[in-house]
Amino acid sequence: MYKKLGYEMKSQYNNSSDVVIREFCMEDYDSLIKLWDYSNLPYKPKGRDRRDRIGYELKEANALFFVAVVEGKLAGSVFGTHDGRKGWINRLVVAPEFQRRGIARMLVTRVEEVLSALGIEIIACLIEGWNGDSMQVFERLEYKRHTDIVYFTKRKEPDV
Ligand SMILES: CC(C)(COP(=O)(O)OP(=O)(O)OC[C@H]1O[C@@H](n2cnc3c(N)ncnc32)[C@H](O)[C@@H]1OP(=O)(O)O)[C@@H](O)C(=O)NCCC(=O)NCCS
Repeated sequence: MYKKLGYEMKSQYNNSSDVVIREFCMEDYDSLIKLWDYSNLPYKPKGRDRRDRIGYELKEANALFFVAVVEGKLAGSVFGTHDGRKGWINRLVVAPEFQRRGIARMLVTRVEEVLSALGIEIIACLIEGWNGDSMQVFERLEYKRHTDIVYFTKRKEPDV
């Protein structure tokens, strides 16, 4: 069974530096927000990505939040979750200077491994229509593109 404490995976990166994939912790929050801003990742600072909301979610067993650290710097993130039926990949980002070196693949693979160990057999990701690069990345990661699904939501506030 997946245990949230103490996970760390090291991998050689570009033959020179180590990439460490480890669990996200709240001490990372400020650096994470800087990373998301710097990498132009759309997120919800007043909604579900608020510090208190992430802190709340992190306590739940289904929060599979990982970061990539390179040379002591937060270089990437992924927020995996599951609802018991389906796994989800959210907030996948790698800082521009570390892109195209396999770090997103490492982050997604880690979430997939945990979800698989939990018996989850389908993993999904929602990608905004403008983000063609990200669509290509997910195709490289063997995700199937569905063009026949329209996303519906109901929100308490527009920016949650
Ligand atoms: C999407 C993103 C996380 C990819 O990170 P990355 O570390 O550069 O990706 P990887 O190096 O692990 O590449 C994974 C695969 O996708 C391919 N790939 C990476 N970037 C690509 C691009 N812009 N266009 C096409 N393919 C790309 C890689 O070649 C690799 O395929 P391969 O292993 O078969 O050779 C990064 O570009 C990013 O942070 N973008 C901005 C934020 C964003 O859009 N996030 C996704 C929201 S849904």
